[in-house]
Amino acid sequence: MAFSSFGDWLGLLATTALAQQLAGGNYSKANFAIAGVFIVRLLPAVLLGPIAGVFADRFDRRRLMILCDILRFFLYLSIPLVGNYFWLYTATVLVEAVTLFWSPAKEASVPNLIPKNKLESANQVTLLASYGTAPIAAIVFSLLALVAGPLSKAFSERYASTANIALYIDALSFLYTAWVVFGIKGLPKGPAVGAKGENIGKSLLGGFSFVRKSQVINGLVIGMLGAFFAAGAVIGLARTFVGDLKAGDAAYGVLFGSVFTGLALGISLGPKIFSQFSRRRIFGASLTISSIFLILLSTITNLVLALIVTIILGAFAGLSWVTGFTMLGLEVEDEMRGRVFAFVQSLIRISLVLVLAIAPVVAAAIGRHSFQYSSYTVTYNGAAFTLLLAGVIGTAVGVISYHRMKDRPSISLWSDIRNAFRGELGGITGATHAGIFISFEGGEGSGKSTQTKLLGEYLESIGETVVLTREPGGSPIGVQLRQILLANETGVISPRAEALMYAADRAHHVFAVIRPALDRGEIVITDRYLDSSIAYQGAGRVLQPSEVARISRWATESLTPTLTFIMDIPAEIGLGRLESQDRLESEPLAFHERVRREFLNLANIDPERYAVIDATQSVDAIHAQIKERVNHLPLLKINKKN
Ligand code: TYD
Repeated sequence: MAFSSFGDWLGLLATTALAQQLAGGNYSKANFAIAGVFIVRLLPAVLLGPIAGVFADRFDRRRLMILCDILRFFLYLSIPLVGNYFWLYTATVLVEAVTLFWSPAKEASVPNLIPKNKLESANQVTLLASYGTAPIAAIVFSLLALVAGPLSKAFSERYASTANIALYIDALSFLYTAWVVFGIKGLPKGPAVGAKGENIGKSLLGGFSFVRKSQVINGLVIGMLGAFFAAGAVIGLARTFVGDLKAGDAAYGVLFGSVFTGLALGISLGPKIFSQFSRRRIFGASLTISSIFLILLSTITNLVLALIVTIILGAFAGLSWVTGFTMLGLEVEDEMRGRVFAFVQSLIRISLVLVLAIAPVVAAAIGRHSFQYSSYTVTYNGAAFTLLLAGVIGTAVGVISYHRMKDRPSISLWSDIRNAFRGELGGITGATHAGIFISFEGGEGSGKSTQTKLLGEYLESIGETVVLTREPGGSPIGVQLRQILLANETGVISPRAEALMYAADRAHHVFAVIRPALDRGEIVITDRYLDSSIAYQGAGRVLQPSEVARISRWATESLTPTLTFIMDIPAEIGLGRLESQDRLESEPLAFHERVRREFLNLANIDPERYAVIDATQSVDAIHAQIKERVNHLPLLKINKKN
């Protein structure tokens, strides 16, 4: 498989290069011709896929594979020998059609050769064999460009150009594969069972109705299409783009190889490096970044720089590709998964055909342009311009799908990035839930309890189920902890012990009260939550606010409120409202001022999640402000309906 995939990639490079070569320097003709190669490669799968799948089931697998490989050997060999457009396309279509029969037979044979528990690793090796060989093929193609020169002098240019030599090697790879399959004795005789051909029309309809319903899947599919749209543009335009940079086949091979090197880097290392971020965020963000690099690529006129940019571009594209597929696997329930995957794959194929057809046409229509600025001449050609366009579209799609999939609508990407650098994000990907989580924070005497009650009543009046709770003391264990923490008789508690006790109260509170309610889809309103610890135990006492935050995140498994109201009031006024003082309330004024400042700091960093309310206003004015903000929550039932 590795050898025949290698041959396949080499063949792709060679046929596109040949298409360009046959155009004889005509810019638009070259563009159209390259588009043609891609289209004829993809079309058979779209049109004949279902039929071939059915036929493939009827024949003896081993003989079918050997026959297919021999056919492909002759077809590839014939392309350079005939050497015109008509045969280039016809042979390509035929090769693809033959491959349609070969693939299901191969697919069905692997499970026969490998024990069940090794299938997973077998799949990985298969992936490696099919995609890992692309950069190798690219390197070989570049090297061939070096030997092609002398060779074509010795023989004739018509038979010994880079593209032609690559095609001979490609042909041989299939002959070799036929021989290998011939030697595999473990293959059971008889037709492959269960290798079903997918029906594109059916899977499109079935998947579409499902995908439409979920915003996340929706955003995911839009994003993946965007990614393939941009990728298709790069692949389709690579040969002319390289030509515009005054480089030849060797450079084309290297550029092609860089795309795949980048992809491989992104796929293998990306998820590890960005493990602190939620997948939903990585997906949209990396798609956007990769598109921005595509825009950058379109402005570059230096080959070496172009290669570096291509690697980075590929890495982010690869990252969004794996995250996308992983998410599809995770977010879609078992029974729907097969259909959704088939749907996405069909969409991808169709969009690839479209973009491979459109991109070169656009490039050809734009043509070659030079601009003269005093003594400088800048050439900006159709290929670069189309890449720019694809980059802009990709960026837009990335931003859209990022917004569609935001898991914690209230938390900005920037605060995530900041926290990730401080190593504080740890697994914010924590399971999502159906409910809404609102916390009230603020200094002493800021009127939190009054406002939590009013908000609770309001939300119930519009048909929501509300759980009102508080910290410390929101659970039976919490009540005991509260007693220890707040009683004046307790005396001094070491700052770390105090922080841990609040965290313990919170951990149990989340476990016993908050999480279950959120999972039921209810609204939880809590009087104080983790920001109180950051402000009181962090800024108020001697501990680092970031350390305290980390303990709380661990305690709550990163359950973060959807929305946090900070009831802001000068410490002096707030303390003046109290009738008696507990252990914390009797801290000096400076302590409470530090607490207030920390709350405002937190709100400043992440305005999406926090709303600062001036707590010196009247009760009604405050309630009106809070209602206004809550009414905008997209998860509210009244907002969901329309
Ligand atoms: P509070 O909730 O204001 O209760 P009351 O209704 O009695 O005013 O008081 C709880 C006290 O606990 C308050 O002084 C702040 C303090 N606290 C912390 O120091 N850290 C925390 O994490 C939490 C939740 C509260």
